[in-house]
Amino acid sequence: MTRAGPGSASHGRPNPLAAAAARCRPRLDPARAAAVAGKMSFLLGLGGVTIPSLEQSLQTGPVKRAGGRVEEFVPAIFPKWANRLPVMVMAAVLWVGGGVTAGVWYYFTPKYTRQGYQPIQPVNFSHATHADQVGIDCRYCHDGVETSGYANLPPTAICMNCHNQVLRDDPGLALVRESHDLEKPVPWVRVHRLPDYVYFHHAVHARRGVSCDHCHGAIHQMEEVAHAQPLSMAFCLDCHRRPAPNLRPLDQVTRLDWEPHQHLPADWFAAAVNAWGVNPPSHCAACHR
Ligand code: HEC
Ligand code: HEC
Ligand code: HEC
Ligand code: HEC
Ligand code: HEC
Repeated sequence: MTRAGPGSASHGRPNPLAAAAARCRPRLDPARAAAVAGKMSFLLGLGGVTIPSLEQSLQTGPVKRAGGRVEEFVPAIFPKWANRLPVMVMAAVLWVGGGVTAGVWYYFTPKYTRQGYQPIQPVNFSHATHADQVGIDCRYCHDGVETSGYANLPPTAICMNCHNQVLRDDPGLALVRESHDLEKPVPWVRVHRLPDYVYFHHAVHARRGVSCDHCHGAIHQMEEVAHAQPLSMAFCLDCHRRPAPNLRPLDQVTRLDWEPHQHLPADWFAAAVNAWGVNPPSHCAACHR
């Protein structure tokens, strides 16, 4: 008698948060996938053409024919498997070469900077709705930006401040309510991430009038967050070497659609650098500690 069957389903309630986390994968960009597939099939094709023809020419070696008759056998100096040796070497070279090529492609193309990266999130949370239409300030949810290195993601309790009334039975918010009841965070998928060898700090930037917009793009218009800027070393240094044009008054840091160069006189920027003593570091140890 086997115990597999519907009875085993009552064993434990499926955890919707875990299921959502499992569903949320980095999204495959079709254009990029096609490009990679193209490169791969080119490599495979190369192997497919060269290996069989090489093999064929090697196998005709031991027998000499004249007029269709077998005339003479060449004595075997090498064991028979040795005929395949060059093919094996060739295959190994292609295999290793393919690996190196793939690695180079991966690390040296813009994809590695993650620009354009837009994972599927477990809840269909929209910054356009919340930050723009409802008009909630970034700091209400990302409460670390002005005080710590991390901006922080909001705990579910922040969402429930409103959603215990607004859309309180909406199926789109089922996971948020579940997260609240189980006291487990919503498994948001991280979008921006610097390599471990880079040190970054939000508050030093927010307190010197650098807007979220410069590094994250027009988040307040995004239905789903996408990685808008490269956040590469050159990107950081471009501003560190010449910060003035990228500054704005501190109370406008989270107003993403506020265009400083439209509202401020041209001499405001250099004056701010002097007044605040802005001097961003360019030495390596500042960001690589
Ligand atoms: C109502 C709460 C709320 C407000 C207001 C809000 N956010 Fe968010 N933010 C979130 C949540 C939840 C996530 C994680 C889910 C996602 O990426 O969409 C997030 C994600 C982000 C991320 C990506 C984090 C990562 O994984 O790299 C950035 C950047 C961000 N927010 C910037 C902003 C900016 C800038 C503003 C103000 C214009 C803002 N947010 C306003 C709730 C909020
Ligand atoms: C200050 C109040 C407030 C907070 C805080 C808030 N929301 Fe909302 N949320 C709203 C309003 C208002 C709407 C729009 C309701 C409507 O469309 O009728 C909404 C809509 C939504 C929707 C429906 C889809 C959409 O964008 O129209 C989702 C999902 C959602 N919120 C998730 C969240 C999550 C997750 C959090 C916490 C990170 C959160 N909300 C925090 C007020 C809030
Ligand atoms: C100078 C560039 C820069 C500015 C300005 C900036 N961010 Fe970020 N942000 C980053 C980087 C880089 C990361 C990834 C950090 C990491 O990997 O440690 C990040 C990560 C985040 C995250 C993910 C959670 C976290 O704390 O790592 C959120 C949310 C966020 N930023 C929100 C904001 C908001 C809101 C503002 C404006 C008040 C802002 N950021 C301004 C560069 C910036
Ligand atoms: C738009 C301008 C701008 C960009 C882009 C920018 N920074 Fe900065 N950064 C500043 C300013 C302004 C300061 C503060 C300088 C001061 O107070 O003298 C600063 C300070 C710093 C500091 C010094 C912190 C400390 O403790 O002294 C570090 C580290 C840093 N930035 C890292 C980064 C990294 C990493 C990036 C790229 C992901 C980056 N910054 C992108 C403008 C920028
Ligand atoms: C303002 C911050 C900042 C400063 C100053 C800085 N770096 Fe970087 N560096 C970064 C960031 C951010 C990355 C990660 C780039 C990425 O994710 O592709 C990085 C990556 C690197 C890498 C990895 C290779 C690469 O290009 O991705 C090397 C090597 C490096 N930095 C060396 C240096 C040296 C040497 C100096 C001093 C001349 C220096 N860095 C100064 C921010 C900085």
